[in-house]
Amino acid sequence: MNTLSNRKILIGITGSIAAYKACELVRILKQAGAKVRVVITQGGLEFITPMTLQALSGERVWTDLLDPESEAAMGHIELARWADLILIAPASANFIARFITGMADDLLTTLCLASTVPIYMAPAMNQQMWLNTITQQNITKLRALGVGLWGPAIGGQACGETGPGRMIEPVELLEKLQLSFNNGALAGKRVVITAGPTQEALDPVRYLANHSSGKMGYAIAEAARAAGADVILISGPVHLARPEGIEVITVTTAEQMYKAVMHKLSACDVFIGAAAVADYRLQDIAQQKIKKTEETLTLRLVKNPDILAAVAAKQDKPLMIGFAAETEDVLNYARQKLIEKNVDMIVANQVGHGVGFESDDNTVTFLLRNGKEQSLTKQNKQQVASKLVEVIASLLTQPTEK
Ligand code: CTP
Repeated sequence: MNTLSNRKILIGITGSIAAYKACELVRILKQAGAKVRVVITQGGLEFITPMTLQALSGERVWTDLLDPESEAAMGHIELARWADLILIAPASANFIARFITGMADDLLTTLCLASTVPIYMAPAMNQQMWLNTITQQNITKLRALGVGLWGPAIGGQACGETGPGRMIEPVELLEKLQLSFNNGALAGKRVVITAGPTQEALDPVRYLANHSSGKMGYAIAEAARAAGADVILISGPVHLARPEGIEVITVTTAEQMYKAVMHKLSACDVFIGAAAVADYRLQDIAQQKIKKTEETLTLRLVKNPDILAAVAAKQDKPLMIGFAAETEDVLNYARQKLIEKNVDMIVANQVGHGVGFESDDNTVTFLLRNGKEQSLTKQNKQQVASKLVEVIASLLTQPTEK
């Protein structure tokens, strides 16, 4: 489903070195069939020329508020009315600060004030500028105003520092745009999702865990949210940003995850078990750090509750989606889990040896209760999540498919 076809997207480019990434964003948006118009601020012009963006967007580029020529052709109010969505990428600290105070001292801030369409920002700045209390206060205000924030990512920066402040990659912005145009397929539905690993303590300093990054579960949560669902994400310990507009409950152990799920199940339409829940926990957690006095160490483990199976056992169970992360014989194990766990669908994927966990991509097969199986080619977790949401939406509307 190409949700970007013929969508009118206004890209605002402000003063940040990440302005160069906006070129790629415009290129792939055009490729996806979107209509793109670009506004560059004075700060942005220090990093990128209108000529580049004109060539990529196939449209003239707007830079000035008080330009009689552009006002005659398409004034700033018309430009604001033209857009289905405004994305400021990169959004500099300065632009965010000007926006938040309601300034209308250049074309882009004026456009934003004059527009009624959703506004998204992909911040990009030095990590210390991002972490500064003033910027963080501005970000809180942006959120309160309903502006969607995409990123920033954490990583190496052009200034040589490492931390939060990188603009997220154009391809990720494209996916987020696709999701934001999703057609409300899950509107009015409540979706509970588990994600990430669990950690089972051995002693006060050590734990048993697994390599799950939580990326798949978080991507599903965002896709479900974008499709209009009311989403509750119950997450084990991960290093991911809290998704916007989603209730996130953080837990550590499988038992805590189980309790949190049971507590949040009322009025739940869809349950998705994307977490890699530890199957066992220590029978007796050592009260003090275990010392290496013995040559061998035996740990006695006891089974954790199976969250997915427990939800599926409920009389008024929601639509149930489980995952089967396997290192071998993936489809056969997945088929078994579909039956044994009494769920409507299993998402099967190969893990281990560098695939599945921690990676940004996933190769999955959807196995449905009615025997239908759909294998997807390797794609990133946002794309998988988007397809999964489509299938869930169709299962909800066709009860016979269950
Ligand atoms: N799951 C769960 N609670 C558990 C274990 C698993 O909710 N204690 C869920 C997972 O979130 C996933 C599905 O069950 O949706 C399958 O998980 P997986 O680890 O692949 O299988 P297990 O049931 O743990 O079986 P095994 O480890 O023997 O393959």
